[in-house]
Amino acid sequence: MAWAREFLQRCGVENPFLDAEVLLAHVAGLDRAGLYRESERPLSPEEARLFRQLVERRARKEPVAYLTGKKEFMGLEFTVTPAVLIPRPETELLVEKALALAGEISSRAAALRELPGAAPGFLIADVGTGSGAIAVSLARSLPAARIYALDCSPAALKVAKRNAQRYQVEDRVFFLAGDLLSPLLEAGLAGKIHLIAANLPYIPTAELSSLMPDVRCYEPLSALDGGPDGLFHYRRLIPQARRLLADPGWLLMEIGAGQGEEMGRLLAEEDWEYQIIHDLGGKQRVVLARRKRHA
Ligand SMILES: C[S@@+](CC[C@H](N)C(=O)[O-])C[C@H]1O[C@@H](n2cnc3c(N)ncnc32)[C@H](O)[C@@H]1O
Repeated sequence: MAWAREFLQRCGVENPFLDAEVLLAHVAGLDRAGLYRESERPLSPEEARLFRQLVERRARKEPVAYLTGKKEFMGLEFTVTPAVLIPRPETELLVEKALALAGEISSRAAALRELPGAAPGFLIADVGTGSGAIAVSLARSLPAARIYALDCSPAALKVAKRNAQRYQVEDRVFFLAGDLLSPLLEAGLAGKIHLIAANLPYIPTAELSSLMPDVRCYEPLSALDGGPDGLFHYRRLIPQARRLLADPGWLLMEIGAGQGEEMGRLLAEEDWEYQIIHDLGGKQRVVLARRKRHA
């Protein structure tokens, strides 16, 4: 541990002490507290070799989550591979807002279900699902919901499926490969979705080269690049969402700091009402939108 801390610090890794602990705990099959409980236990030669390898990879800025294959999100442990973006704590805000809205929408959906010919159930779409962090967290907390998890990357969908199986929600989470929400429109679900959650790539292309090497060199570019102003995907998503949403229906989108004004303009142009929600650091983080009601 002392060697790893010192080595990672010398290589300019941001949190050398924490990373050394997490990697050693991973190799020894312990949690971090266990490292201190069992501090006298010697590592086997195989464990020592693996630890050294992981520390050397971390020194080259490979993210800890890819080295251990896991990341915590909403209190759950998600499998992650380099095919998916590592879920960020900031995205928990979007899930919390979705859960807060869900109570309101699902009770209305239940009332609607009683009408003959009405759409069945409470339907959610998670577009750009990646590891499935949003879809699986929502499915775990909302046992009455059915969730469509969409991504253009088949490799990402495989990881998301594993996470759904791990938390036994695979019977209510449906995985679809395709461009944005097109698979749902093609399946004839226009007007039927109650909530759309989107964490699509929103980093402006010109800013990609200034990201930390941990992100820039290891996370999939297709999960980061949002085009010239970062809003390339959201510009195409908004009209699709308009066709898919039920009434009432909500669209939740994660954005980057400073993108709220342009998003607001795009939504207002298409007759949506919206609210920009800030994260704990005071940065614009989530846009919550729904179609304007006309008296
Ligand atoms: C920023 S990551 C978000 C992953 C996950 N939802 C999360 O919050 O951790 C964006 C995801 O959108 C997917 N994506 C990018 N362009 C897409 C498109 N045109 N249609 C569908 N998915 C897309 C990427 O493959 C990636 O998995």
